[in-house]
Amino acid sequence: MNKLSDYSAHIEKVLRDIEYPGGVLTSLYEPISYAMQAGGKRIRPSLLLMAADSFGLKAEEAESAAVGIELFHNFTLLHDDVMDASDVRRGRPSVHARWDVNTAILSGDTMLTLATQAICRVPDSCLREVIDTFNRMAIRVYEGQRLDMDFETSEDVTLDDYLRMVADKTGALLGASARIGALIGGASEKDASRMEEYGMMLGLAFQIQDDWLDVFGDPSTFGKPIGGDINNNKKSYLLLSALSQEGPEAVAIREAMKFPAGPGKVTTVTRLFEKAGVSEKCRAAINSYSKKALAALKATSLSEEAREPFRLIVEKLTGRKK
Ligand code: IPE
Ligand code: IPE
Ligand code: MG
Ligand code: MG
Ligand code: MG
Repeated sequence: MNKLSDYSAHIEKVLRDIEYPGGVLTSLYEPISYAMQAGGKRIRPSLLLMAADSFGLKAEEAESAAVGIELFHNFTLLHDDVMDASDVRRGRPSVHARWDVNTAILSGDTMLTLATQAICRVPDSCLREVIDTFNRMAIRVYEGQRLDMDFETSEDVTLDDYLRMVADKTGALLGASARIGALIGGASEKDASRMEEYGMMLGLAFQIQDDWLDVFGDPSTFGKPIGGDINNNKKSYLLLSALSQEGPEAVAIREAMKFPAGPGKVTTVTRLFEKAGVSEKCRAAINSYSKKALAALKATSLSEEAREPFRLIVEKLTGRKK
């Protein structure tokens, strides 16, 4: 295997074959299989497997960790959709919308523990290092999610604050996926850290693209409703880069952000974003983080040929529509 699509097809099959307990606890496990079989992009487990393969041809030994990473990602999505009041994910009702908030909390908690169990099934030689990476990453995700919520009601969030928040909520998991894969593959500490940096920078570009799609994406392709970030007063890259320019658009956007949530607010703010040229700002930032990801990749001991599939991931994700 050497292409992203090979790895994602492989992990998709592994995830499909997982059997969750039934019986009286169907109410706990059915939402888990619903969430896990909804066809996400599987970027993080694919990245983990690809990194393991590139450093040591041991992808099968990395399978359980890859499953763990995808379980963890989906756990964060169950809780994130409650926090963001998002009723649609991957083109279907999100778990709290299909069942209820208690289900999203408890099935999410269960996914977190299933994730930890799966992560623990790595070879003994790297167990301690992998668990340490996983736990450090998890804390960063919670910190990032906390900052994301706090920023909704804060008026003085800067682009630097945003970058810290996004590095935590999104970059940390992509970075940990690449690092854990490299560790399982037997990479040196230096290479593992550079792969983590690659994943982190990819994550920053990835989240800015996600912010952009939340305003300018096509909901039928993106799988999530458009305008949620505007209605939730999220301090997205779009909003902060528009406000950082000052001038008449920034003043108008500041006013429009005070409108009550609804389609009128979304339309008005979107038009102002267009006037302020935020798409170009996003593109420039995405390009800059993509370059940083590639520089970290180049600093590893991987050959140019071995680096190629990782370069293609950057290309693919930063131009993604879903
Ligand atoms: C969604 O992640 C959460 C973010 C970090 C933006 P993905 O866009 O990878 O979601 P799926 O798993 O492919 O649905
Ligand atoms: C997602 O941020 C970050 C995590 C889930 C940790 P978003 O809130 O932007 O993700 P989506 O857009 O709902 O997928
Ligand atoms: Mg969120
Ligand atoms: Mg969300
Ligand atoms: Mg989003």
